[in-house]
Amino acid sequence: MNWMIEWPGSFPIFAKGGRGSRIIDVDGHTYVDFCLGDTGAMFGHSPKATVEATARQMHEGITMMLPTDDSVWVGEELARRFGLPYWQLAMTATDANRFSLRMAREATARRKILVFNGCYHGTVDETLVRLVDGRVVAREGAMPPPIEPELTTKIVEFNDLNALEKALEPRDVAAVLMEPAMTNCGIILPEEGYLEGVREITRTTGTLWIIDETHTWCAGPDGYTATHHLQPDMITLGKAIAGGIPAGAFGASQEVFDKTSSNMLAETTGVNGLGGTLTGNALALAAMRATLQKVITKKAYNHMIPLANRFNEAVERIIQQTGVPWHTVRLGARVEYRFGTKPPKNGAEAIAAKDPLLNKYVHLYDLNHGILLTPFHNMALMSPYSTRKDVDLHTHVFEDSVEQIMA
Ligand SMILES: Cc1ncc(COP(=O)(O)O)c(C=O)c1O
Repeated sequence: MNWMIEWPGSFPIFAKGGRGSRIIDVDGHTYVDFCLGDTGAMFGHSPKATVEATARQMHEGITMMLPTDDSVWVGEELARRFGLPYWQLAMTATDANRFSLRMAREATARRKILVFNGCYHGTVDETLVRLVDGRVVAREGAMPPPIEPELTTKIVEFNDLNALEKALEPRDVAAVLMEPAMTNCGIILPEEGYLEGVREITRTTGTLWIIDETHTWCAGPDGYTATHHLQPDMITLGKAIAGGIPAGAFGASQEVFDKTSSNMLAETTGVNGLGGTLTGNALALAAMRATLQKVITKKAYNHMIPLANRFNEAVERIIQQTGVPWHTVRLGARVEYRFGTKPPKNGAEAIAAKDPLLNKYVHLYDLNHGILLTPFHNMALMSPYSTRKDVDLHTHVFEDSVEQIMA
């Protein structure tokens, strides 16, 4: 995959395996893993409960095109955590986003969607876009979209309510799809009152509000949504939901369900444009159930968030001491340091602050000292298996790496 070859050096590290917060490569080197499969392994590599449940299920049928008991438990649990009553399954977060947009079109009888500059929601055609000179264009590097992005998508900057209001005012947008804090061009936190403003504007214009919690689930066991008392119409999830076994899910409000249920439940349809043959398979559901029940717990976050704090404070202290013009941002168990003295407030500022060479340097330095950071940016995730020792190792390596470039 493209992102596997994006690591610095002329070849990626080949993994032999991963356990907890560690990865071992084929040459026998051990790494402290803060990348954690870019969130897919946010709760550690091969968490015990997930492994046991999936191993059991492997012997009892992997995919049967029939629901299992686990689907009822998982649906109820997602409703309890995220506050939306109806849940549907997907195989990935990309899928969950694609299908939620489809449902939003059905529910609103509108075609367009709106996303934010700098976003990433997976390989969903309408969302692989950028804002350039006031226009929505296909994202650089991505294979071409089927039709011009202007026909499918509106795009505005994050933290700009006026721009959002103007874009939604014609009332032709089915849904705003967003991360409540951006994570894909570095962490960008919402300004005070911003998300409440998004809710108000989307309500006033009859636009659905879809929150993509794939990454922001790092904020707490019930996601950013519950942690911050948000009330979206739909939520999408993926990556870590089944401990790394491919699975995703998306939830909908009663109102969205009422407007789409005739299609969802129609006996004669067979094809409603959601899911695929393997979606909702027994293995993925066993993995989701075990992971939700025993892995993605309050106790896990009580361990992960203080560690992210420790990481953040140590890096911040070194930045202050050395005077390097960088800063840190933290979102629950996810923490990042970035180049530039102040946090960007939107995608354009974040993209402008990128420094590819420095980025390579940091990742290579870390790799050579036994640490994996998320590629593309300097982001670290804490897992329930991460330790203070892991964090302190990073602190020392970070300090050395900064001293080397300041020397
Ligand atoms: C916020 C967000 N949503 C969706 C996705 C897509 O996830 P996947 O590639 O697992 O489908 C990503 C991937 O990085 C993401 O960051």
